[in-house]
Parts: sequence; C-alpha cells; structure tokens
Amino acid sequence: MEHAAPVIAIDGPTASGKGTVAQRVASALGWHYLDSGALYRLAALRALETGISVSDARALAEAARTLDPVFSDGRITLDGREVTDDIRREDVGLLASRIAVHPELRAALLELQRSFRRPPGLVADGRDMGTVVFPDARLKVFLTATAEARAERRHKQLSDKGFSSSIAALLQDLKVRDERDSSRSTAPLKPAEDARRLDSSDLTIDQVVAQILDWHGKG
Ligand code: C5P
Repeated sequence: MEHAAPVIAIDGPTASGKGTVAQRVASALGWHYLDSGALYRLAALRALETGISVSDARALAEAARTLDPVFSDGRITLDGREVTDDIRREDVGLLASRIAVHPELRAALLELQRSFRRPPGLVADGRDMGTVVFPDARLKVFLTATAEARAERRHKQLSDKGFSSSIAALLQDLKVRDERDSSRSTAPLKPAEDARRLDSSDLTIDQVVAQILDWHGKG
C-alpha cells in the first residue's frame, strides 16, 4: 500500500453534505472521486428490478459482484442504461441501507470501491471509507450535521430536481437510516479513531471544503 495513491476519506450520516463536499475537494485537487453510496444504491436498484429478497445475502452479493457501472461527467450508466436519477429515489436509498447490513454484500463491493484508487489521488465518501475500505487514508474526515439541518438539505435537493417531499417524512426516514447505519454489526457508521470531526450544521459548503483543504495542506 505504501506506493498507492493517497486517499482523503469523508464519512458521515445521510445528507450531511459529504457528496457535494467530496466532489468539490476532488475537483480542487484534480483527484478522482468515489461516491460509495452510489454503489450500494446500484446494488439496491438491481435487487429491486430483479426481485432479489432483502434477506438473501448470497444473491445480493452475487448481484453486487457483477455490477459494472460507468461513471462519467456526473452521470451513472448501468448495463447501458442511465440510472443517475433512479438511484437517488428515496425507496432505493432506503433499500440500500437495508441491504448494506449484510457482510457478504459489503465484501462483494470492496474490490470495486478500491479500484477507484488511482493517481494522483482519490477523495472517497461514504460510511466506512476511513474505517474499512481505506484505513490507510492520509486524511479522514467525519462530517456531521443535525438531523433537522440534513432533512432541510435533502428537501431542497429533491425540490431542485422537481420531486416533492415533506420535511417531516424526510426527517423520519433519515433517523431510521441513521439508526440502521450506526447499529449494524459490520462496518457501522462511526468515526475512525484518527478521523477529524466537522459539524457542518452552521457552515456553508465553501467553508467545509476550505477546512478540509486546509487540513490536507497541513497533513
Ligand atoms: O450515501 P448514500 O445515502 O447514497 O448511501 C445509501 C446507503 O448505502 C446508506 O444509507 C448506507 O446504508 C449505505 N452505505 C454504506 N456504506 C457506504 C456507503 C453507503 O453502508 N460506504
């Protein structure tokens, strides 16, 4: 691993702003970007469409192992079909968090996630980037925000895309998802011991990005 490309791991709960922040940090540095949640969502979409049961860990892992998505210019294609918007649906996100409890599925996605690590570097966002997938990351950030701030952000994201939603329902959904992500026995959502914590509730995206670039520069 010594000569492997450097990694910045950005972990945190759903709708903490990790995705936007990680993409901005990657583009500021000219590094690659991994949205690991998208891989769990792709596996969930495939499970939904092929009728795999949430409890069938082996079939889910097999479906995940054969995922061959193409990420290009912010668009995601799976089996020749564009699924960028489909995987952002709330039902797909909720299913992703339910199947993510299976160690077999998580193991099946490890290699695919690590294949994104290429020079000059990688910014990876998810739940277990700093703890499991890239434990040797040069910088680990655990990005949080209050549940209310996150529900409001998710509401805005959805309405920008033309989807209607209720803040109360979103708040409920993300509490359920937080609880499941934090309490699962394999790779639970928790800061790596050597992670720096950043609460973004009262910060702008620019401020969060600037803080991470500053830590990176001093690393
Ligand atoms: O980040 P995002 O909301 O797109 O992820 C969808 C779900 O995938 C999460 O709720 C989580 O359960 C799961 N996930 C995970 N580990 C990751 C990324 C996502 O378990 N590294």
